[in-house]
Amino acid sequence: MKLLLLGRGGQVGWELQRSLAPLGEVVALDPDSTDFKADFSRPEELAETVFKVRPDVIVNSAAHTAVDKAESEPDFARKLNATSPGVIAKAAQEIGALMVHYSTDYVFDGSGSKAWCEDDPTGPLSVYGKTKLEGEQLVAEHCARHLIFRTSWVYAARGGNFAKTMLRLAKERERLTVIDDQFGAPTGAELLADVTAHAIRATLREPSKAGLYHLVAGGETTWHGYARFVLEQARAAGVELKAGPEAVDPVPTSAFPTPATRPNNSRLNTSKLQAAFGLALPHWQAGVARMLRETL
Ligand SMILES: NC(=O)c1ccc[n+]([C@@H]2O[C@H](COP(=O)([O-])OP(=O)(O)OC[C@H]3O[C@@H](n4cnc5c(N)ncnc54)[C@H](OP(=O)(O)O)[C@@H]3O)[C@@H](O)[C@H]2O)c1
Repeated sequence: MKLLLLGRGGQVGWELQRSLAPLGEVVALDPDSTDFKADFSRPEELAETVFKVRPDVIVNSAAHTAVDKAESEPDFARKLNATSPGVIAKAAQEIGALMVHYSTDYVFDGSGSKAWCEDDPTGPLSVYGKTKLEGEQLVAEHCARHLIFRTSWVYAARGGNFAKTMLRLAKERERLTVIDDQFGAPTGAELLADVTAHAIRATLREPSKAGLYHLVAGGETTWHGYARFVLEQARAAGVELKAGPEAVDPVPTSAFPTPATRPNNSRLNTSKLQAAFGLALPHWQAGVARMLRETL
């Protein structure tokens, strides 16, 4: 089997390079690749790459993920998050490939407190959310055999992340203020990549499993709860902190105005995915604790 991975250097893309390897030959590309063109700001070049590689499976983890920046460059964000995935989906359909794509909790308006199901009405609040919604719709429209995973609050051991920022700030300052009115589940890139590999195998065996799924770690928290957990773990591991978990003050979203509006309720219901693929999704704390043990 041959797989084409787009966005290989991102948080999820990096982990996909590992998790997809046992499935077959992986052609992994980034925007600077020279063998095959994979720059999503040039959608017109992407079909040719699909036709040349002729993969059985395409996994797209490339995206414009700078949520605030997207507000001032909507056309560029749309090219990366919608137009290019649409072009790839059309090419995937032509060669009969399965296409895997990622979307986000930001397709919802964040109202209420119920965990969102796949068929709940969408209502993105930001350019990022709107363009990601357009992207998932184009993929579903153009490629019959697709897997689209909506996820949230992604972190990885590699590169910067929220937990590392909290640790740095807690070493520098006596007190921290962190938002406590946005609810969601921090989800590890490792988990996303492992579930993706499992779902690809299952869907190739049983094509009726294709579709849209919510995929996040178990449980829920706020950014404030997340920060406190990180500092509790760091303290237990003997890290010297100026601000411990008790010195994290909760504040509303309005305390940190940003160009893009974020949803308050980012809870995603994962029952459909768990039932379809026979999977259990570990609690978010298990993944974050593991990432901290690797990076502390
Ligand atoms: N991060 C989150 O919290 C989050 C939450 C919900 C959903 N998601 C979704 O999950 C997926 C993976 O996200 P992630 O966190 O892994 O994102 P990420 O770490 O920001 O990685 C994005 C990837 O896209 C690539 N990319 C950027 N511009 C490109 C271009 N012009 N052409 C081709 N590739 C380009 C990047 O390449 P370079 O590094 O070379 O620029 C990088 O490999 C995305 O679909 C995202 O929307 C993420």
